[in-house]
Amino acid sequence: MLDISEIKTIEHDVLIVGAGGAGLSAAIEASAQGMSTGVVMKSLLGKAHTVMAEGGMAAALGNVDHRDHWKIHFRDTMRGGKFLNVWRMAELHAKIAPERVRLLEEWGAVFDRTKKGLINQRNFGGHRYPRLAHVGDRTGLEMIRTLQDHGIHHGIEAYMECTALDLLKNKNGEVCGVVCLWRESGTFTIFKAKSIIFATGGGGKAWDVTSNSWEYTGDGYALAYEAGAELMDLEFNQFHPTGMVWPLSVKGLLVTESVRGEGGILLNSEGTRFMFNYIPERFRSETADTQEEAARWLAGDQNARRPPELLTRDVVARAINEEVKAGRGSKHGGAYLNIATQRSAEDIKKKLPSMYHQFKVLAELDITKEPMEVGPTCHYFMGGIRVDADTTMSSLPGLFACGECAAGMHGANRLGGNSLSDLLVFGYLAGKNASEYAKKLGTHSDFDEEQAKQIIRNATDILNRESGANPYLLHEELEKNMQKNVGIIRTKDDLNTGIDTLEKIKEEYKTVKAKGSSQFNPGWHEAIGMRNLLITAEAVARAALMREESRGAHTREDFPGEREEWIKYNIVTTKGEDGKMKLKKVERPAPDPELERIAKSSIEDLETEVANERK
Ligand code: FUM
Repeated sequence: MLDISEIKTIEHDVLIVGAGGAGLSAAIEASAQGMSTGVVMKSLLGKAHTVMAEGGMAAALGNVDHRDHWKIHFRDTMRGGKFLNVWRMAELHAKIAPERVRLLEEWGAVFDRTKKGLINQRNFGGHRYPRLAHVGDRTGLEMIRTLQDHGIHHGIEAYMECTALDLLKNKNGEVCGVVCLWRESGTFTIFKAKSIIFATGGGGKAWDVTSNSWEYTGDGYALAYEAGAELMDLEFNQFHPTGMVWPLSVKGLLVTESVRGEGGILLNSEGTRFMFNYIPERFRSETADTQEEAARWLAGDQNARRPPELLTRDVVARAINEEVKAGRGSKHGGAYLNIATQRSAEDIKKKLPSMYHQFKVLAELDITKEPMEVGPTCHYFMGGIRVDADTTMSSLPGLFACGECAAGMHGANRLGGNSLSDLLVFGYLAGKNASEYAKKLGTHSDFDEEQAKQIIRNATDILNRESGANPYLLHEELEKNMQKNVGIIRTKDDLNTGIDTLEKIKEEYKTVKAKGSSQFNPGWHEAIGMRNLLITAEAVARAALMREESRGAHTREDFPGEREEWIKYNIVTTKGEDGKMKLKKVERPAPDPELERIAKSSIEDLETEVANERK
């Protein structure tokens, strides 16, 4: 007989689930607000997908090009997101990012420097100016290192290798706790909190080729969905154009966009610099369309337009895909990315040290002499838990979300480098607002014991049944299905096949069985993560089927191009009373006229406006 009073309970004012850049930023702010703050993480402190944002954090500091301004960053972000971003989120992000980056510097982040000693900034896709504050190609790592040092010394409590299973609610339907499972001991703990912040990252592990590591099983989406929160725009999954394609053991591992930011060019098997053939109309006036102009840009000519390799990620990923489909792919089915002809060996080793080592060690290739082979890899979710822009609270009282697991900031496509600044800005806002909520609440509320028992039983059933489906094989089936049917290019037929296959895997999952005991049992955790991956994958596939247009990272071969009708809607997903997934088109509020004007201004007009403001 399961007795809940025997399960250990830990109380915090604010509990954060996830310890990447967003979770740690939120925790630091909650702690600064005087809250007792706990951070639960399924992995080890410091191990987060944040480190895969290697190239930098975008903020209009204007250190390298003084013309930069929040308005231009905002405009770039909206255009990159194909205007589907939540306007207010993009505004807050562009305005607040510079101060949060400077604060990170105060907390000890060791940025690369300009000759004048300012934080150095580099070019990245879709950003008008060199805007990415960076530390070589290890920026995410430096961010995590700085935040964890600062956080731990300022009183946050870290619970490592502790997996959140499901949320608990009080009798009013407010979130008041979460049941967790310790990886090492296989025992359970109930965390009680006045407010909970999800900073759980994405769900890239649903695909076969991904830059995500084992932790990214869509936990935040699934737990929020199960508890009754709304998810939004899950159809927008970013395939980063440059993952390793060879050797197979590291297929999908990220090759930072900084390679292109530092001047790297993309070539097909015929040696053609093919990105010149893929410049979309919207970006034509801002993109170099000749080798000569691109060479002038590389030489530092501020009047030259950016080379086409720095178009937004959705465009570059599709272009590589097209070249491979047309039979012009690289030896192992990608494209060639060459920095060796663009920069000196010394520069490459200084600006891209991790890439140099990564290819040397894993592919026996010297990037200062030879081109890399790269191809698209599932990297990031633009959609996620639907939140209020200012408070970051979800539709479920007491549950907040920030970072990759929250929807809205990036619209249909994220600009590289906007993730790290997003983590800083919305992590901070989540910490602040969840603290205010907790202060107002005053006391912890009681959770429903039957619900807690059921959550524990759902987990232990996986160990206790006699026989059943192998979680690893189910996961493989899921990855293949998503890769094939819910990939970069989508059609109604493929998506329907994908959904049918998901239904079949869901049926098999009902009998999933992990062998062995409860202590340090990876198969058990794999099976637990599979539930979350299946919910995430289904939400993605069904939203992708519903959105009958191509916008940003969501490409429907049967509905080419953006459609006027669809810009008006977000797709909102919830769990229905009958337990089935429900999707609906929800009309977006009209944008603030001033923000709309800024985003839709021509770059020349906006630059003049900003220059006049500064006079
Ligand atoms: O390519 C990169 O360095 C990744 C950056 C990001 O996803 O923001």
